[in-house]
Amino acid sequence: MQSTLPYSWYTDPEVLRREQALIFRSAWQYVGHLGQIPEPGTFFAGRAGRTPIVVTRARDDELRAFVNVCRHRGFPVAEGEGKRETLQCPYHAWTYGLDGELRSAPRSDEEPEFPREELALRRAEVGTWGPFVFVNTGPDPEPLSHALGSMPAQVEELGLDVGDLVFHTRWEAELEANWKIVCENFLECYHCQVAHPAFAEVIDVSTDAYGLSTDGRLSSQRGPVRENVRLEGELQRSQFHFLWPNLGVNIFAGRANLSIGPMVPLTPDRTYRFLDYFFGRNVDAAWIDELMAFDAQVGLEDRGLVEGVHRGMASGALDHGVLMGRSEQLISHFQHLTETALETPARPL
Ligand code: FES
Ligand SMILES: [Fe+2]
Repeated sequence: MQSTLPYSWYTDPEVLRREQALIFRSAWQYVGHLGQIPEPGTFFAGRAGRTPIVVTRARDDELRAFVNVCRHRGFPVAEGEGKRETLQCPYHAWTYGLDGELRSAPRSDEEPEFPREELALRRAEVGTWGPFVFVNTGPDPEPLSHALGSMPAQVEELGLDVGDLVFHTRWEAELEANWKIVCENFLECYHCQVAHPAFAEVIDVSTDAYGLSTDGRLSSQRGPVRENVRLEGELQRSQFHFLWPNLGVNIFAGRANLSIGPMVPLTPDRTYRFLDYFFGRNVDAAWIDELMAFDAQVGLEDRGLVEGVHRGMASGALDHGVLMGRSEQLISHFQHLTETALETPARPL
């Protein structure tokens, strides 16, 4: 039987430091959506992994992303979202254009040869898939379309046009568990029958019906609706995608819907999650409320699971666990990618 990653990898600050440097720094991260920057002169603050980010649409209508850290002494220059011509750092009032250029800095005329041109906000790459905005803070990143792999095609094949989706709500949570535990919980539905009774009543989670596949960094789960469940809407199946290292995308069977968001490591034992929910323009409020309540219940059940796993791993009582070859093949894939990125194989592959 295959062993899991060593449990020490879920608690060791040195492993997280390596993950930040070798995995997150160069990964495309979902940060928000185009509805947050609907017109010239708008911006929103977010985060790409650990890096604070500000995404702007300047006068020229161009979409740009910057590291949201003042070039003076490091305060975040933007907070929340809004419409304004400039971003002014609240610490000493250095003022940047939405194009990132430093426009003014109080008393800079008292400084001989103040290098204003060299003190623009640090640029990050930005890309979009439908309304979804992604940022990459690494040097010379691969194109976003390459990173997304076959996910957009699979979603389209299901009959969902992401371009038609409208943002509904953002859900946020902090979990007392290592980020990899949260990802691994997303990657198997072996626990669904036991831990998510309401979910398993609607979706057929049996081994033969519930499809698992990988394609590069993408892991996909396809859950058919049980035969006795009357399906309202055009989407015949659920699709749950995971894009390594830390993005989850959920589409439930029924009407046009999608939720998307990352699992962000804060410390070895704390993870921040957010999920942006989108629905088709004509989806009625009652259907939306029902889905949101259903998903909130599943989320609550998952919180108990991942936090429990973290306590078990962190106790130091055992060195590792084991993986079910068939039902947990996507976890095995996740662990292989993670291990390879950290370049220190901990077990024979
Ligand atoms: S840190 Fe931003 S103006 Fe000083
Ligand atoms: Fe779950």
